[in-house]
Amino acid sequence: MAEEPYHDKLFDHEYDGIREYDNPMPAWWVWMFVLSALFAFPYVLWYHIGNGPSILDALEAEQAAYAEKLLATYGDLSVDEPTILRMMEDENAMLAMKGLFKGKCSQCHLADGSGSVGPNLTDDHWKNVKGVTDIAEVIRTGITTKGMPAWGDQFTETQLVLVSSYVAHLRENPLPGKAPEGDPIPAWPAASAAGIDENAGE
Ligand code: HEC
Repeated sequence: MAEEPYHDKLFDHEYDGIREYDNPMPAWWVWMFVLSALFAFPYVLWYHIGNGPSILDALEAEQAAYAEKLLATYGDLSVDEPTILRMMEDENAMLAMKGLFKGKCSQCHLADGSGSVGPNLTDDHWKNVKGVTDIAEVIRTGITTKGMPAWGDQFTETQLVLVSSYVAHLRENPLPGKAPEGDPIPAWPAASAAGIDENAGE
């Protein structure tokens, strides 16, 4: 490092016997500052204002992919009340269905289920549903005259169980979304109270 004449020139001021040099910042430091400042503009535009995925999105996608793999281990589930209630308590299944719901259902029910075109699925009011098997039936056959598509062709029976469990479990976290439609219905029966064990529903 060659000494420049400018180096080590002292400022006039002095505080408590401490004096400081008037040296310029090192070039590498200045460049780092300039480059970070320039980097910040597209970063903010893309990740905060534009479509850039947030850390949470990335985490969610990874969790969903992992859960999807686990799903393959469930075997064939049958579409009945005990199975739907039991799968509501399976966190991996709920995680996997969160992604599926976001992909296929959020267009009308919003990603959190609070409703837009379709009803709010998180409240206690339901139009076509009295029990969890009705959820599966609505999803399978749709209510095509009212804008709810039929999904029977797109889901396996196992998927149908899990989507139904996911929809049923949305009620555990009621959201003030679309105003209630239909009639209030009682809480789903507890899986344990219904005497459901691991082998139920086969
Ligand atoms: C194109 C819009 C649209 C999409 C996509 C859609 N739904 Fe719906 N859904 C509706 C509408 C509209 C209704 C209300 C039907 C009615 O008025 O009876 C509804 C009703 C329902 C109901 C019954 C609610 C009640 O109160 O009885 C369930 C459950 C449901 N949808 C689940 C789903 C699931 C799960 C998906 C994704 C696999 C989905 N929907 C995708 C529009 C949609």
